[in-house]
Amino acid sequence: MALLPILCYPDPRLHKVAQPVAAVDDRLRTLIDDMLETMYDANGIGLAATQIDVHQRLVVIDTSEERNQPLVLINPEITWMSDERVKGDEGCLSVPGIYDGVERATAVKVTALDRDGQTQNIEAEGLLAICIQHELDHLKGKVFVEYLSPLKQGRIKTKMVKAQKAER
Ligand code: NI
Repeated sequence: MALLPILCYPDPRLHKVAQPVAAVDDRLRTLIDDMLETMYDANGIGLAATQIDVHQRLVVIDTSEERNQPLVLINPEITWMSDERVKGDEGCLSVPGIYDGVERATAVKVTALDRDGQTQNIEAEGLLAICIQHELDHLKGKVFVEYLSPLKQGRIKTKMVKAQKAER
């Protein structure tokens, strides 16, 4: 197992569109285990492959209190979204320290492969529904701050660039 470096906004690689996973094999399962370890280590509830510079349709999620219910979504597709929407504060491991309101569907249905390559159909609501929408956006090359006003996006970009310079 290994911790993987997470890309930080405004890294242009966060805007690449992910391609479908071709084969669910041991190589992919190693990547999944590394992504889970990276997500847990960073105290995140979700991580998309895009964020570790792997541009394949793969996300890992764990919204459980005990952090012991990993959910692996390979080639996920949202098949239904509720009309009911809710606005809540979101954060992202690629935009550390920033939290802001994003409107999302309150419930979604998703179909995806699991780590054994089996089809799974998931009905999600609450935090899990929001997390799924956030992570699937990453696969489209979209970071949550892009829902905010251009003014806010500009401020966040400046802040992130400064913080990354200070780290070097
Ligand atoms: Ni994110």
